[in-house]
Amino acid sequence: MLLGAPASGKGTQAARLADHFDLEHISTGAMLRQAVADGGELGSLVGQLLKDGQLVPDHLVVELVLDALEQSGHGFVVDGFPRTLRQAEGFDVMLAQRALALDAVILIEVAHSVLVSRSTGRRIDPDTGHVYHLQFAPPPAEIVPRLEQRDDDSEAVVVERLAIYQRQTAAVIDHYRERLVAIDGSGTPAQVFTQILDRLNRQ
Ligand code: AP5
Repeated sequence: MLLGAPASGKGTQAARLADHFDLEHISTGAMLRQAVADGGELGSLVGQLLKDGQLVPDHLVVELVLDALEQSGHGFVVDGFPRTLRQAEGFDVMLAQRALALDAVILIEVAHSVLVSRSTGRRIDPDTGHVYHLQFAPPPAEIVPRLEQRDDDSEAVVVERLAIYQRQTAAVIDHYRERLVAIDGSGTPAQVFTQILDRLNRQ
């Protein structure tokens, strides 16, 4: 499980971990954005919440994760979930019912001053889903024209998302306090990944 503030690098590291350990990458943010793009009932329920940087109701997110777990035939790395204590408690039950256990709970720590620029500079390749950063993880020049920016990556919404993270997610961090592995997320993506692998190997 990867915890951390918006734009701390959870998605970037989850993709690397999934690749390295052949795990399923379960990202509630990505699943919710996909639901909005698909234009179905869930998408219409959550679209405005995502745009405004507000959390989606717990029961909807828990249901999404439940579906993803049912479909995941092997191990997984979960990113962006849980975000509230109720989600964490729901996840505990879900795992216990399936006789599954978390191997690690990783908290990526980055100074808040850095998080805003990480968000506003983020760009996504709609063809591959790859996440770039204009400055920190620059895309190849030829694909720049097709890159997209997330609706919730404007500075005003990022500030709101950070405030919500501080209000809601402290309780989640407390819930996992005893087994939390804190990682300094301020280095390059490769440096952060090396640190995570190193800590996992020492567990
Ligand atoms: P979600 O998609 O989960 O957003 P988030 O938690 O705010 O996290 P981000 O995706 O913004 O960042 P990240 O930590 O994955 O960073 P990334 O690797 O992309 O959720 C979006 C919305 O969905 C929520 O606001 C809410 O509405 C809803 N939602 C989702 N889950 C929910 C839940 N459980 N309950 C309720 N609602 C939920 O990196 C960011 C940028 O920095 C990228 O450009 C990247 O290239 C760059 N970067 C990454 N690592 C580094 C590094 N080490 N150095 C320099 N740059 C880096």
